Amino acid sequence: MKFKHEIIEKNVGLLAIFTIIAISFGGLVQITPLLFQNETTTPVTGLKPYTALQMEGRDVYIREGCNSCHSQMIRPFRSETERYGHYSVAGESVWEHPFLWGSKRTGPDLARVGGRYSDDWHRIHLLDPRIVVPESNMPGFPWLEENELDGKSTLKKLQIFRDQFGVPYGDDEALAKDVESIKGKTEMDALIAYLQSLGTALK
Ligand code: HEC
Repeated sequence: MKFKHEIIEKNVGLLAIFTIIAISFGGLVQITPLLFQNETTTPVTGLKPYTALQMEGRDVYIREGCNSCHSQMIRPFRSETERYGHYSVAGESVWEHPFLWGSKRTGPDLARVGGRYSDDWHRIHLLDPRIVVPESNMPGFPWLEENELDGKSTLKKLQIFRDQFGVPYGDDEALAKDVESIKGKTEMDALIAYLQSLGTALK
């Protein structure tokens, strides 16, 4: 009886199995309730699915690695809420796939950047940040202004968000009409539309 623990500790295979059981149990206890809590599964009132243009902008944001310098997660601390606004709540992210919360902040958090600056400010800032923020070390992204959206896979993306992730988009006809509206727009237009939508749902 006294040596039972010793048997496990001296047998790597057995130790691994028991370790996995212990960790899985701890994980399940923490994670399972989150899948069923209304707070984490119900969208906040006023949350709107991304438009075709915003959806393309979000993909540009991911492609350019903006999320490697910017988080989108305001923590519930005074120092953060004074600077960025209301802390982020789960109901704002229920339609995010994948979410872009992050934790690395070379630049400021962008969870509520929507509406803070004008479209023109963003355009100039993204072309060359130092024109508007002289001490900035953010890189410029001038090519976004030249790349026109081809819109080839936009409809498919929206359909996947609707059919696989349950985002409440309209029927194919409504989606096609929205996709039509991005014709002639640049990646810059899309990215700005996306940025202007961030964090605006929570009132
Ligand atoms: C190498 C790190 C880095 C990358 C990559 C980066 N940024 Fe930044 N960003 C910063 C820093 C630092 C600042 C603060 C100085 C400034 O305003 O330029 C900033 C500021 C901003 C601001 C102003 C936020 C505010 O509240 O004042 C926005 C908007 C922004 N970045 C958007 C973007 C977007 C969109 C991308 C991707 C296309 C991007 N950033 C990529 C570092 C980065």
